[in-house]
Amino acid sequence: MVTSPRLLDDEALEQSSVVANNAMNRDRNLDGVNSYRKDLGFDPLSCLTGEGQSWLDICCGSGRALIQAARAHPHLRLTGVDLVDFFDPTGAGLPGLTLTAASIVGWRPDHAFDLITCVHGLHYVGDKLGVVARALRWLKPDGFFAAHLDLSNLKLVDGGRMPALKGLRYDSHRRLVTRRGPLEMHLGLEYVGADDTCGPNFTGQPAVDSYYRPVSAPRRRRGPA
Ligand SMILES: C[S@@+](CC[C@H](N)C(=O)[O-])C[C@H]1O[C@@H](n2cnc3c(N)ncnc32)[C@H](O)[C@@H]1O
Repeated sequence: MVTSPRLLDDEALEQSSVVANNAMNRDRNLDGVNSYRKDLGFDPLSCLTGEGQSWLDICCGSGRALIQAARAHPHLRLTGVDLVDFFDPTGAGLPGLTLTAASIVGWRPDHAFDLITCVHGLHYVGDKLGVVARALRWLKPDGFFAAHLDLSNLKLVDGGRMPALKGLRYDSHRRLVTRRGPLEMHLGLEYVGADDTCGPNFTGQPAVDSYYRPVSAPRRRRGPA
């Protein structure tokens, strides 16, 4: 018999010491040793070549990477969302930059994006696949999505094998899921809850396991013969 750990809902998870951990790295720069460019394996600015192009950074931490992008390219439309308001005050008032304190689980944008990133944020989110599915709908037709995701943090409550993430590319070296262009993702899974006691993932930091259960696809009604 498979025994699942005690699973937390979103409210309990957001209070958890694993998610509210002050020691996590929230200060990655755009470029350099501790940076988005290094961990993503590409320069986010290379995806933002035109006037008024837009970048959403999910779980943006202090917002440092976005702030540096806003300083260098004031014509960009830059949006950061993080659960906690630890934003670097030097970002205040920069043109084109919006930093919002909110859980990404309930947040929604009012426009589509050329680039959406989530740098080491999904490790702490309950419904990781739900966030990925929603973000993929927020891409512009040629927009690019990239998020760190450790597949070992995705679990089925019955102990079964997780289905493949169809339509997405997965770089198992970087643990990076990517996609060009929007996607309606249907994995046939329902989110059940999160386990904050699973221990460190590939980052070396305590992370959160996300539990799902398979759901059958709604049956199509047969029309007249
Ligand atoms: C390891 S930090 C990474 C921050 C930033 N991306 C960086 O690389 O500097 C993970 C971030 O995810 C945020 N986070 C965790 N759960 C979240 C949620 N449900 N919604 C929004 N942000 C969340 C945390 O507050 C934290 O700032």
